Order: sequence, then structure tokens, then C-alpha cells
Amino acid sequence: MVNLMERRMVGAALDLARNEVVARTATGFRAHTKPNVDLYPFLWDWDSAIVAMAFSDLGIPERGLAELRSLHAAQHESGLVAHIAFSRAESDLARYFPGPDVWGGLHGRDGRPISGITQPPVSGIALRSLVEHGIDPESPGVRDLAIRIDEHHRWWMRERDPAGDGNVVVLHGWSTGRDNAPEVLDLYRGNDIPVRRGVGALRRDLAHGVSADSRPTDEYYERSIGLADRGVELGGWTSPGLAARMPMQLSDPLVAALLAGSAADLAFVARVAGLPRIADSSAHIAQRVTGALAARATSDGAIHAVDVRRGRLLDQHKTITTPMTAWAPGLPDSVLAHNAQLIHDGDLGGAHGVLTTARDSAWFDPQRYWQGPSWPHMDELVARGLQRSASEPGRSPEVRRTVHDAITELDARTSAAILRDGSPEYRHADTGVTVGKQHMSFSSGSQIMHARRGGHHDEALRRAADAYREASVWHAAP
Ligand code: DGY
Repeated sequence: MVNLMERRMVGAALDLARNEVVARTATGFRAHTKPNVDLYPFLWDWDSAIVAMAFSDLGIPERGLAELRSLHAAQHESGLVAHIAFSRAESDLARYFPGPDVWGGLHGRDGRPISGITQPPVSGIALRSLVEHGIDPESPGVRDLAIRIDEHHRWWMRERDPAGDGNVVVLHGWSTGRDNAPEVLDLYRGNDIPVRRGVGALRRDLAHGVSADSRPTDEYYERSIGLADRGVELGGWTSPGLAARMPMQLSDPLVAALLAGSAADLAFVARVAGLPRIADSSAHIAQRVTGALAARATSDGAIHAVDVRRGRLLDQHKTITTPMTAWAPGLPDSVLAHNAQLIHDGDLGGAHGVLTTARDSAWFDPQRYWQGPSWPHMDELVARGLQRSASEPGRSPEVRRTVHDAITELDARTSAAILRDGSPEYRHADTGVTVGKQHMSFSSGSQIMHARRGGHHDEALRRAADAYREASVWHAAP
């Protein structure tokens, strides 16, 4: 008899096949995974990098490599990896707002229309995971990706570090990966944030079976599109030095920590791939970004977001950005202990996963997008970040125990939620019920990652891999 966990894993793997897009190119086939065929019908940056990690854990790293290659094929020549690489299919363009036109007509190297902003960088982490699951680090595919990911990390340091002190910034809410997080909403209230009125009527998201009270508001969209317009007006989203001119300059610890983690992992891959220059410069980036984060840790170990333009510490917001700092290698024990406590029995310890916003926040809303609900891919990323940080040499046994206990508890809550409902886009902070969309690639992918990390579900994952292979167009491609 097929057990429930096996059904869940097979379902998750079938989601990856369902959302897969395979295109013929001059050199063979290109494959990527839409976050969701209705709600997010193109390629999204961190969604794809997380899916690549999931393919590693599913035992199909070559498909993960194809995913990362497709993501970086659309990289802009400046080094920007856009948060969206669009397709030209009318049916997809009709499903989503805003389309490529709001970003000023940018294209990636392979000609795909792209957006002008990026997302939290995860490609270095994904590439290391592929290499650790058997992809040859000296293969041309890996070496080529290492070069592109390094270009992207260097773009961050060149174009998104306006103060030149290692505090990288994002210029748009969507770049945080946590669209309407309290830190973003706080900055979006500013009088200097441009507004394009009336875009609520152009939204497509609400046509795809998600309720308005679980999504960002029309007002949020008006500011997001206003900011997109402003980047175009100020010379274009890829114009050098744009960061210092934009009204929003948010230093988000989650983004910085993932950049540091991605650079550290790229350094690892580059070393084994025989690319010493990239290895050295990546290690330097990791150190610089981590150093800037460490320098702003409070005495109790918390690292908060900063409104860089106004020099304002956003320490009134307790959000998931703080525990995600664990991805920055080499942070002090106090930071790690604080992070673990926050998600265990602290303000972010939700019954169904890590709360994205603490309950006592003025912005808390149990079902609205990033204002409270737990997101499966974030639960997995928090657990992984903490785990690897705790395994760094020199950690005290006490901190290791604290982290171990926090992850064990989080994993128990996640497993229960998966058995109950699978992995929706996000879970209501109080009830745990599904909110947002089902069949989301990064949620389903993180379910696979969670099971692999737990190490108890080999048979279920084997069947899931078989189910993916049977359903996948890429796998059947000649
Ligand atoms: C959306 O459309 O909701 C995305 O998060 C922006 O990329």
C-alpha cells in the first residue's frame, strides 16, 4: 500500500513536471520550471535556483544543472540576473501583470525579455549542491555557470552597494523575495516612493483562484509599479550607479546573507573546478558582506534591516529576515543562538513553520502573504542555514545544541504540516491551512529537500523521482 508520505513526495515531483517548460535551442534543449503555470507563468530567479536544489535532492542533479543554465542564459550582460525571464507566449503574458514593458525593454543575453530587478541570490548555493550530488565540477557546464554566477555576485558589489561598505541594498519590494514584508511596507509608506495610480485594475493574480485578503493590496502594486517606472526614468534599470539615485535603498539581511552564502559556496565550487581567481574573489565577497552584517548585530545577536537612504535601523520589525542571516558564514555564536531561539520558542516560532512576521508586529496578518504566514521554502532554507552555520568549526557545544533543538522542533512541525496538506504556497499562521496557490514549484521542491535532509524517506523519494521521469517532457527529450 502506498503510504501518505510517498503520495506527498510523488505529488511534489509531479508538480515539478507539471510546471516544466522545455524549449528547443540551437544547441539542444533548454528547461526551466515555472513557479506555477497560472500565477507565475515565466522563469523566476530564486524559484528556479531552489528548484535546482530540489532536483539534486531528488537524485536528478543533471536536471538541476539544466535549470540553473536556463536561469543564467537569460542573465543581462551587466551581470544582473533578473527576477523574471519572460516568455513571448501570448497565453503566458495574458496571465501576469506586470509584463516586460514596465521594465524598459531589457533583454537577457539569450534574447529573452527580462525584468530590471533581481531577487535573493541562491545560484552559488544551488551549484554547490549539484556538485555535491555528483555533477562533475570540471565539466564545461559547471565552469560556465561559475563564471556567470561570479559576474552576478560582482554586479551586486558594484551596483548594489551604494555606500561601498558591504551593506548591499535592494531598490524594490519584489527584490527581497518577501514582497510585502513589514520592512518593505515601512519604506513604501515614504512620501518619496512614486505611485502609479490605477494599476489595481490591471492585476491578473486575483484571476487565478487566490483570495484578495491573502495577497498584497492594490496600493502595494501602485507603489511597486511606481518604483519600476522610476528606475526607467532615472536612466534605466541596468544603468550604472542607479542604486544611489533610487528612493528605496533597503539593506535586507536575508538578501545579504544569501549573497554571502552563495559567494562562499561558489568559492568552494570554483576551487574544485580549477578556477582560483573566482574562488578568491568569491571568498572575499562572502567575507565583506558577512562583515557588514556582523558589524550591525545588536548585543543580543539580532541583525535587522536598514533603510540606507535615511540611515534608519528598522529594528521595530521582527521578521524571518533575522534567522535567515545564518546563511552568512562565520557570524558570531550570539547571532546563531538568537536566530535559533527566535524560531523555536521565540517570536517567530509558529505552530506550522517559521512565522514570516511576529504576532506582535503592527503589520502582522495571519493570512496575508509575507505578513505572518509560514512558507515551506523558507522553513527549509532557515533549517539549512542554521544547520550549516552550527557545523562551522569553533562553534560552542551549547550553541550547537540550541540550534539542533530548534531545527528538530521546526522539522517536526513541517513534517506534520506536509502530511496534513502537502506543500502549498504558504500556510495560515494560526490554522496552518493552505493559503495562496497549490502546485508551487519551490514549495513542492522544498518538500523534497525537507524529506531528503530528514533522511527517512528514501523509498518515497525514489518513487517520486520515477514519477518525475515518467511525466517530464525534458526527460523524454532526445
Ligand atoms: C508577484 O508578482 O507577486 C511577484 O512576487 C513579483 O515578482
